[in-house]
Parts: sequence; structure tokens; C-alpha cells
Amino acid sequence: MTEHGAYPVEPAVDAATARFWDELYQERDQVWSGRANAVLAQVVAPLPPGAALDLGCGEGGDAIWLAGRGWQVTAVDVSATALGRLSAAAARADLASRITVARHDLTRTFPAGRYDLVSAQFLQSPLELPREAVLRAAARAVAPGGRLLVVEHGEPPSWARESHPHARFASPEEILAALDLDPDGWHTERLGAVRRTGTGPDGETGTLVDHVVLVRRREQR
Ligand SMILES: C[S@@+](CC[C@H](N)C(=O)[O-])C[C@H]1O[C@@H](n2cnc3c(N)ncnc32)[C@H](O)[C@@H]1O
Repeated sequence: MTEHGAYPVEPAVDAATARFWDELYQERDQVWSGRANAVLAQVVAPLPPGAALDLGCGEGGDAIWLAGRGWQVTAVDVSATALGRLSAAAARADLASRITVARHDLTRTFPAGRYDLVSAQFLQSPLELPREAVLRAAARAVAPGGRLLVVEHGEPPSWARESHPHARFASPEEILAALDLDPDGWHTERLGAVRRTGTGPDGETGTLVDHVVLVRRREQR
């Protein structure tokens, strides 16, 4: 039995979480820009393509950009609505063969495999999201020599200072600490904040601060 087209309702998906995000996506035909996130594009541009895992992929701006550069992408989200949009966009771009779409509630299940790039772009939620467990699972999914890129909102967007649902924003150092990485097995390539101009849901221009953590798993000796 399916609730949303091709994506089965798995018992492992929390119904309230799925409903929250599906309703958010259904408010508009398109919620995000459809473009790759800026830091991801900057980090990935010099890398050779490989296997990528996009956690909380949303409508797939990053997954489609990666696939277009030759990456084989596993794109994961809890929202069947978002995944349906990603699948349609991938088909339109003739990139469906490079993208595996998988529905997971990452608080309950995590995709199998090892990846050259694991990306978590704004995997933040006003609902309960045990970040540490998800981030540590993300680190475990990185292949030797591969990278984990975590980008999170560092403060509320300038257009939403009073009503933004995220109560507290982790610093880059706190995100890194939450990963609990073995220092002998990992190298930190980037740690810090980036300020950029963005557009809000009603077309307002404003400033956004992204917290960026890029770590690389050392090759096995
Ligand atoms: C702020 S959006 C970011 C989307 C995309 N990464 C981007 O940068 O445009 C957060 C995404 O995480 C997904 N998400 C939230 N909680 C999740 C969970 N427990 N498991 C899987 N995905 C989740 C939401 O459905 C949403 O698509």
C-alpha cells in the first residue's frame, strides 16, 4: 500500500515527521531554489566524481547538480513529496540513472554503503532531530579518503529574526565535536562561518550565515 505514489509508507518513518515536511512542501509548487547549495558547489567543484550521499536532500537541487557532474548520488529524505519532485526533475534532466532516491526517517533508519562524499545541507528541523546520532552515522558512511560536508544555518535569516523555529544554532566547533571523530582517522579541511545573500520565501533579499564543517577520512594504511 502506498500513500504518495511510488514511495511506500514504511513503519520506520515517523508519521508526524513525514506529515510536517510533506505539508511544508505542499504549501508551494517549489520550496527551494532548485540550484545547488553554494558551499557544496564550491567544495565539490575540484573533486573527481564518485559516490555521494545527500542527507535531507529536499527537492534535489544538490543531487541533480552532483549527478550532472558525474556523481552517482543516493538522495534521502523523509518527505515523499520532496522525493517525488526530485525524481521528476531528475527525469527531466535525463539524470535519473545517476540518482537513487530513498525515503528514510534518518532518526530511525540510515542508508547502507560507503560514500566518497556524504553531504548534510541544512538538515535542521523544528521537530525533534537527534543531530549527534545522525551526524555520527553520516561520518561512518564516509569511505576511506572520502569527505563529510555539514552545512547548517548559523543564525536565523535576516527576514525571520523573530519567528524562526530553530531555538539554537550550533557553532562550527560544536558541529565538529558532535561528530566525535577519531583525530588520527580524520583531517578537518574547513571549519567556520560563511555569510551570503539569500532570498526568503516571499522574495525578500537578506543575509544568511552558514556554519560549515568539512572533514576528510584518511586513507587506510
Ligand atoms: C531545511 S530542508 C533542506 C533541504 C536541502 N538539503 C536543501 O539544502 O535545499 C531540511 C530537509 O530535511 C528533511 N528532513 C527533516 N527531518 C528528517 C528526517 N528525520 N529524516 C530525513 N529527512 C529529514 C526535510 O524533509 C527537508 O527536506
